[in-house]
Amino acid sequence: VLSDLDFSNWAKNIQERTESALDRLMPASKIAPTKLHEAMRYATMGGGKRVRALLAHAAGEFCSADAAKIDMAAAAVEMIHAYSLVHDDMPCMDDDDLRRGKPSCHKQFDDATALLVGDALQSLAFQTLATPNLLPEKHQLEMVHLLAVASGSRGMAGGQAIDLASVGQTLSQTELEYMHIHKTGALIRAATLLGSYCAHHQDQTRTHALDQYAQNIGLAFQVVDDILDAEADTATLGKTAGKDADNNKPTYVTILGLTQAKALAQDLYNQAITPLQNYGNQATRLIELAQFITNRGF
Ligand code: IPE
Ligand code: IPE
Ligand code: MG
Ligand code: MG
Ligand code: MG
Repeated sequence: VLSDLDFSNWAKNIQERTESALDRLMPASKIAPTKLHEAMRYATMGGGKRVRALLAHAAGEFCSADAAKIDMAAAAVEMIHAYSLVHDDMPCMDDDDLRRGKPSCHKQFDDATALLVGDALQSLAFQTLATPNLLPEKHQLEMVHLLAVASGSRGMAGGQAIDLASVGQTLSQTELEYMHIHKTGALIRAATLLGSYCAHHQDQTRTHALDQYAQNIGLAFQVVDDILDAEADTATLGKTAGKDADNNKPTYVTILGLTQAKALAQDLYNQAITPLQNYGNQATRLIELAQFITNRGF
């Protein structure tokens, strides 16, 4: 069983099953329109840490959900995430040529294709959550609603709008936190809660603990992303290092400096795992994953 694996083998297993779920759910490249399908696959498969899929599975396991159901939720969130990266890299946004160690989607294909990849991945994510007979319909509707809110103007897309409006500005820590909670935290939170929604029985106390965990780890994730942008190199990241400074973006590093930004990531980690303390061994995977997110080097 998955729960017997050590963290890195567990993660590898989830990454592989996420890859095959995405492969199953996305139209083959030979199906028309072939360029669009090829580009969707290019942007979604064969890369990424799959942190959102890992969160969905860790949360789902915590709530005793069936792994095959969690695969669908995990794939849906990874589709939204991949779409957000494709658009994030476009010249009208961060103008980044490298993603996951390969040319960004708009460089490998073209701008119009990259736009359409985002459109189509977004639709496919909701199509996936709405798959007939996946779960009790009430749960599926809640899941669609949750992912829609998390990815829309009050979630990821809104956060991206704030990010672009903040270029060259000096934000307060509260304003920066607001931006990060939306552009990154919202989808991380949704990934976690979607995993728990795959369970047949919803335990309010558990869901609440997971929500606290997810909100803190979601913010920690973007704090670490900002730190890595400033500290790591392009080869390790698989995306252009130093891009935030080049683009004049306010980040946790510009506001707090590296040392305090790292301390904040640790604080957020502690706050994330505190609500799980009552659950003993059952929370081990979630805690290991929080450690991975906070201490990763890529
Ligand atoms: C990068 O996300 C964009 C942010 C929200 C910070 P990830 O670091 O999860 O990217 P992949 O999926 O591993 O490539
Ligand atoms: C991206 O934030 C957040 C979303 C894509 C929603 P960043 O612009 O910091 O992500 P990277 O560093 O390019 O991956
Ligand atoms: Mg960006
Ligand atoms: Mg970017
Ligand atoms: Mg970044």
